[in-house]
Amino acid sequence: MKFAATAQSPYGIKCDCLVEFVNKNGINAIAKDTPTAVTQAINHLRQQGDLSESAHARMVYPEGEASAKRILVVPVEFELKANSPAHTTGKHLSGIASTIAKAISDYPVKDLVIHFDDRFMHSAPLSDQDGVRDAQVFTAALLNAVYKSDAFKGKETQDKNKKKLKSLPGLAKVTLATQDAELKDVKQGLVQGEAVGLGMITARNLGDAPPNICNPQYFTAEAKKLVKKHPKLTVKVLGEKELKALGAGAYLAVTQGSANPPQLITMEYKGGKASDKPICFVGKGLTFDSGGISIKPGAGMDEMKYDMCGAGSVMGVMQAAAELKLPINIVGAIAAAENMPASNATRPGDIVTTMSGQTVEILNTDAEGRLVLCDTLTYVQDKFKPQVVINMATLTGACIVALGHHTAAVMGNTPELTQELQELSLKVNDPIWELPLWSEYTDDLKSPFADIPNIAGGRGAGTIIAGCYLQKFIKDVPWAHLDIAGVAWNSGAAKGATGRPVHLLMQYLFKQLDTKPASDKAAGPAVRKRKPAARKTTAKK
Ligand code: BES
Ligand code: MN
Ligand code: ZN
Repeated sequence: MKFAATAQSPYGIKCDCLVEFVNKNGINAIAKDTPTAVTQAINHLRQQGDLSESAHARMVYPEGEASAKRILVVPVEFELKANSPAHTTGKHLSGIASTIAKAISDYPVKDLVIHFDDRFMHSAPLSDQDGVRDAQVFTAALLNAVYKSDAFKGKETQDKNKKKLKSLPGLAKVTLATQDAELKDVKQGLVQGEAVGLGMITARNLGDAPPNICNPQYFTAEAKKLVKKHPKLTVKVLGEKELKALGAGAYLAVTQGSANPPQLITMEYKGGKASDKPICFVGKGLTFDSGGISIKPGAGMDEMKYDMCGAGSVMGVMQAAAELKLPINIVGAIAAAENMPASNATRPGDIVTTMSGQTVEILNTDAEGRLVLCDTLTYVQDKFKPQVVINMATLTGACIVALGHHTAAVMGNTPELTQELQELSLKVNDPIWELPLWSEYTDDLKSPFADIPNIAGGRGAGTIIAGCYLQKFIKDVPWAHLDIAGVAWNSGAAKGATGRPVHLLMQYLFKQLDTKPASDKAAGPAVRKRKPAARKTTAKK
């Protein structure tokens, strides 16, 4: 699927379908040059009363001369109020992308032109108008809304789907038709959004892959495949032997009951200067978490194949950053392991020595994410001397109790970092919210025998306690921990990985490039804010 942006009038481009946004009165408030054929088709819809506020999208056929075979009329009513939460605009744009994807899915639309004018898509106050972000969020969302994998269906089903594709060819080209003043921003957002969207799809595919296939070795193979494609990427894998030699006692305690040995995978992307300290991402990669001897209940246990979604997001980000050739140094670390019960598995009560030297009493083998992460965090800090460390983990069920499935939790040791991440997350509708790592919570991590236990004695604040545990392994570096347990996948009928928080992490990288001193700035795409002055007033018809 190809994306393009143009300042050409959308009414002059030949296509299978043109997307027009209208308000609830059926009026396209932007275009001055709407051809009669299009206006008439929209008017017709309105006269029939088919453009009510609850209408989603309507496919109509232009009467008379038009460059588009069909017109998808999408009513949008959107008003940003002073007290609207900061992710409102991104949510709106993602919603429009899903609406479009759904509406065209029954039609043989290969070539789609979207009359992309964010003045109409959000009649927002100027302060929130950011053309780069809008095109970026829209593009990533559209890619993800259209994508569906049948990789694990049987041959017969796959063949059937292929046949269907012949009669109903999927989207091949999407053109965002904007205007001169916006073109540069829209182009930039589109390039970023495409890389982000594909990175999210990589994370989704890894998440959805079954645990008998997607095991730690599979992650190694995928990392090696990715590295082969990009000259600035390298990979190093530590197996059981190497982890033993490094003294990763906590990591090994998780994986010792599994027939699939652990893989600590580090990918280095060198797009910046050799002297630039890297930004380091660390992902929890439990390809299956049975709980170990503290075994989980059976219902829904299959969803613990998703316990590697932190690692999946690292793969997605490394891919997107390399694809965009970002002028920045990045390390992506994946703590891949499987947590299984066995006669040689770790017992509750076992005490192990971590790579940091601290000893841990493992009171619950199901609190395993923090065990693989603590050694991985020690390793990346020592080895790469990063400027910042951000880890992603489906770490605690308690996070779902606290924030549900909309919002991930962020914790950390540097308020500027956690706040920056929170703000960026809302901009791209990949929301996170901060929880405090105060000493009152840390004090709960006491063991009579070892330096620390892996779970606290009390019952509350499970997400924060896990964050406090990780913090014990952070030295002198800005660090943020994202607990993505509630947002990494959807359950129920629409079960599937979401690709979160790839978008947030990419936005963080774009922001770092944007705020570098000018002399340092390379050609790579960055985030720019549109100057309000460049904006023409909305033409009312
Ligand atoms: N991977 C789970 C957390 C999880 C559970 C994520 C459900 C998403 C949905 C993690 O390894 C775990 O089992 N955590 C325990 C910690 C507890 C033993 C302190 C939990 O949340 O129950
Ligand atoms: Mn667990
Ligand atoms: Zn887990």
